[in-house]
Amino acid sequence: MGGIDRGRHAGSFPAMHVLSGKARKAGVLGWPVSHSRSPRLHGYWLARHGIDGAYLPLPVRPERFEAAVRALADLGFAGANVTIPHKEAAFTLCDSVDAVAHRAGSVNTLIFAEDGTIRGTSTDGYGFVESLAEQAPGFAPAEGPAVILGAGGAVRSVAAALLDAGCPRLILVNRTIERAHALARDLGGAVEVTAEADLHGVVLLVNGTSLGMAGQPPLAIDLTPLPPHAVVADMVYVPLETPLLAAARARGLRGVDGLGMLLHQARPGFEAWFGAAPQVDAELRAFVAHDIPPDLRPSSGA
Ligand SMILES: NC(=O)c1ccc[n+]([C@@H]2O[C@H](COP(=O)([O-])OP(=O)(O)OC[C@H]3O[C@@H](n4cnc5c(N)ncnc54)[C@H](OP(=O)(O)O)[C@@H]3O)[C@@H](O)[C@H]2O)c1
Repeated sequence: MGGIDRGRHAGSFPAMHVLSGKARKAGVLGWPVSHSRSPRLHGYWLARHGIDGAYLPLPVRPERFEAAVRALADLGFAGANVTIPHKEAAFTLCDSVDAVAHRAGSVNTLIFAEDGTIRGTSTDGYGFVESLAEQAPGFAPAEGPAVILGAGGAVRSVAAALLDAGCPRLILVNRTIERAHALARDLGGAVEVTAEADLHGVVLLVNGTSLGMAGQPPLAIDLTPLPPHAVVADMVYVPLETPLLAAARARGLRGVDGLGMLLHQARPGFEAWFGAAPQVDAELRAFVAHDIPPDLRPSSGA
C-alpha cells in the first residue's frame, strides 16, 4: 500500500509520499510542459483520495511523441493527458476515439487499455459545459445562440460539446477565417462562420482565443449588444479574472472563468486511471489558483 506515510515510526522518518510497486501512473505530455497545472491538480486528488499513484509532467518533443506514448504504455502507465502541441497527433495514433474526440479531431486524454490498445477522448468540451453549469447555474446552452471566438484545438472540443448540449445556433469568429470554416464543416449542424461577431440576441459568448491571456494583447469586443441574461465565458485562466470577464460583470452579466474548465476537464481521466471519481470544490480551486501569480488572481485566492 502506498500513499502518504505520516510517520508511523515517528521520530525515525520524515512524513513522505511513498509509492508501492503496484502504484498507478499517469502524466501530461506537452512541449513545453512546465507551465501545466495538471500535476498540481491530479496530485491534489491523489492525496485527497489516499491513492497509491503518481501523475508526472512529461516533456516530449513533437518528433518523439508517438515513441514516448508507446513507451509509457510499455512502462505500465494507465494513460496520460495531452496538451499543446500534441492533441492532433494523439488523435491520429489512438486505436479508438469516442464520438466527441472524433468530432473535435483532437484528443487530450489517453487511456491505455488492458488489451494493449490506446483509447482517446477529448474532455475540454465536457469540462467547459460542467464549469458553465457550476458557475452559471440555471443557464442551459439550449436557451439560444452562442458565439465562440477562436477555432483552435480547445474550441473544437467546446463547440462539439455545446452542440451536444442542445445549442440551437453556433456562430464561429476567428482571425484565420478558413480555420473556422474547416471547423464548421467538421462539426456539421447549426454552425455559422462570420468575420465580425454580432452579439444581438446571443445568450452565450465564449473567448476561445489566447487574447486576454497574460503577455498577450487584450480582447477588444463591445459587450453592449448582449441581452442582460447572457453569460460570458473565458477559456483563459491567467489572469483568473480577465478584462473580458471584468467587463461582463461590470455590465451585470454572469461570467464563467477558465479555471473551472481546467478543473472539470481533468475528472474523466483521473477516474479512468486511478479508479476514483474526483470532485471539484472550493479547496481544489483555491489550491490550483494558488499557483497563478498573485498579481494575476483576485486577492481572495479563489
Ligand atoms: N481552461 C482550460 O482548461 C483551457 C484548455 C485548453 C485551452 N485553453 C485556452 O483556450 C485558448 C485556446 O487554446 P487552444 O489550445 O485552442 O490554442 P490554439 O489551438 O493555438 O488556438 C488559438 C486560437 O487563438 C487565436 N489567436 C491567437 N492569437 C490571436 C490574435 N493575436 N488575434 C486573434 N486571434 C488570435 C487563434 O486564431 P488563428 O486560428 O487565427 O491562429 C486560434 O483561434 C487559450 O487561451 C488556452 O489557454 C483553456
